[in-house]
Amino acid sequence: MTKSENIVWHDSKVVKEERQKQKGQKSAVVWFTGLSGAGKSTISVEVENELYRQGLHTFRLDGDNVRHGLNNNLGFSAEDRAENIRRVGEVAKLMSDAGLLTLTAFISPYREDRDKVREIMDDDEFIEVYVACDLEVCESRDPKGLYQKARAGEIKGFTGIDDPYEEPKNPELVVHSDQNSLEECVQQVVDYLRQNGYFE
Ligand code: PPS
Repeated sequence: MTKSENIVWHDSKVVKEERQKQKGQKSAVVWFTGLSGAGKSTISVEVENELYRQGLHTFRLDGDNVRHGLNNNLGFSAEDRAENIRRVGEVAKLMSDAGLLTLTAFISPYREDRDKVREIMDDDEFIEVYVACDLEVCESRDPKGLYQKARAGEIKGFTGIDDPYEEPKNPELVVHSDQNSLEECVQQVVDYLRQNGYFE
């Protein structure tokens, strides 16, 4: 895809720093990545709930949801996953520019795609949270019955079965959902954000 020509950036009078100051929080993108069934959505829902109840301005973007609308023309080939993550990264960046603490829950299996999102963000704006969980555990949870379908050959190119998942090399945070409870994982993320000055 080529970039359009003859387009010029137009600045707003209200800058991101002012929006953050008005809301009393630092905006950022908390990017949850991990296998299907690892707990990305579940943990991010609870983290958002906790932050929201503390008075913070938040929003959450979730793979299954975004694929119903904005990205409903994308499948699961490597190219489509890359485009999925590129679009979500751009939307998350806009939300962060608007002053929101934005949480995203996407498998985002390719390191390169995640790193490209990191590149468009400011320093400290991108917080990669790896939701680590043994494939066997994810498969035993199988909340949507998709692993079973993938094993039966009814879904081709399923992450972790016959499609790759590239673990983050230097994530800001790793939570182990197969070793710690949901509450503990949520607390780790909330603590990370508080300790690193995203809110008080
Ligand atoms: S990706 O790889 O980041 O573009 O995927 P994402 O947008 O997060 O969507 C993942 C959800 O789509 C369902 N699903 C699949 N996942 C992986 N591989 C294949 N082939 C596939 N087909 C459908 C699945 O419900 C994923 O949801 P989660 O919540 O991760 O289980």
